[in-house]
Amino acid sequence: MAVDVVILAAGKGTRMKSALPKVLHPIAGRPMLQHVIDTVNTLPDINLHVVIGHGAEAVRETINGDINWLMQEEQLGTGHAVAQALPAVTAGNKLMVLYGDVPLIQTHTLEAMLDNVGSNDFALLTVDLENPQGYGRIVRDKNGDVIAIVEQKDANSEQLVINEVNTGVMAGMADDFLCWLPELNNENAQGEYYLTDVIAMACDEGKTINTPQPQHEWEVLGVNNRSQQAELERIYQGEQAQRLMENGLTILDPARIDIRGELIVGNDVVIDINAVFEGHVELKDGVRIGPNCCIKNSTVGEYTEIHANSILEDSLVAESCQIGPFARLRPNTELKANAKVGNFVETKKTTVGEGSKINHLSYVGDAILGKNVNVGAGTITCNYDGVNKFKTEIGDEAFIGSNTSLVAPVKVGEKGTVGAGSTITSEVGNEDLAVARGKQRNISGWKRPVKK
Ligand code: UD1
Ligand code: CA
Repeated sequence: MAVDVVILAAGKGTRMKSALPKVLHPIAGRPMLQHVIDTVNTLPDINLHVVIGHGAEAVRETINGDINWLMQEEQLGTGHAVAQALPAVTAGNKLMVLYGDVPLIQTHTLEAMLDNVGSNDFALLTVDLENPQGYGRIVRDKNGDVIAIVEQKDANSEQLVINEVNTGVMAGMADDFLCWLPELNNENAQGEYYLTDVIAMACDEGKTINTPQPQHEWEVLGVNNRSQQAELERIYQGEQAQRLMENGLTILDPARIDIRGELIVGNDVVIDINAVFEGHVELKDGVRIGPNCCIKNSTVGEYTEIHANSILEDSLVAESCQIGPFARLRPNTELKANAKVGNFVETKKTTVGEGSKINHLSYVGDAILGKNVNVGAGTITCNYDGVNKFKTEIGDEAFIGSNTSLVAPVKVGEKGTVGAGSTITSEVGNEDLAVARGKQRNISGWKRPVKK
């Protein structure tokens, strides 16, 4: 049976104190609402409706997915919000309500909810909280059956001590919501149309209210302020680290790793502290990552070591390479096997051939280096004339002396040698030596100036 999922995301999020709509604030680099949508999309046969209001334009532009967007011009309550989606739902379907600011809900919990829905069964996700402050309380009769939800502001002293609360997630038959929502009123402490009032209506019709609970309490934690956002970020990162360690990854301190995207690791990979991974990163067997590295959208081959404080972006690194410390591989860098890019070296749009080395203090951009090339310290590819970019090509086994400027477009042939301190502006032939620098002049008997 198909399911209409309605995600509420119209609220302002005043306590975030932000120009960004609340549901666009990220957890692990991804908007909270996108987390919910991505989880919903793991379920089969879904029609997704998202109710937006505050910052609607920005939300629609940022969020991806096959979504039926609905506008709630005025935020008159959660019941009013779900009602906006009713014209688009199909009577025979199940209907499930989620919140855009409760980002960590898991697939198995949503499945449990839907399993508890039937023509005579309604599902309400509840949780027992030590401190139920602020939440709607679950009221049960003496048989233990749920009969109502009472909001904090409407609760009497007996109800206020109830620890079981409404997470906000509920699911039932769409045709029941179609009957009940138009019947809601706003005669309550907040003058809002409460979605929670459908529980009493369901009871009146003799329906059973099933109350599955989430596997983890953090699945139903919401974000109303920056401190709750930070708390969920840590929980999310902790869970990812845990999963990777279960699959054999060594993380020196699981509290000091951040994965903002997808990290895929082989066997016997070791990650030191303060690593940040963004986008899609793949680390093959035996890779070692030193402290304070940032790696974005890159693949790192077997047994390559990335030493401390190195940054990789959109790069492809083969096996047994050495990178850093303090190396920066900018987009479209490719290192072939056994290549070395050492400290304070920046590369961009560059292929470094097998066994080639750029060990110290260099900028190599728009370049192709063959095999076993040695680039000396302080080498610069002058690839930019202020308007256009030009290419540098260096053949197999070439040797570039320290402090060389290669003014592109330029080529150094196979086994070519460039003397230290040269400014190379024209092609160096295979096996040639090029020296392009002022000749040394010695002045004998020269006297240093003295203080007057
Ligand atoms: C709601 C529940 C409460 C539950 C709590 C869990 C009601 C009446 N109360 O209370 O029982 O314990 O969530 O967090 O449902 N929203 C809209 N349009 C609106 C109103 C709200 O889109 O007109 C969205 C908000 O952006 C938010 C969500 O619905 O994402 C919940 O609204 P909020 O006002 O935070 O409800 P609570 O008072 O926390
Ligand atoms: Ca809330």
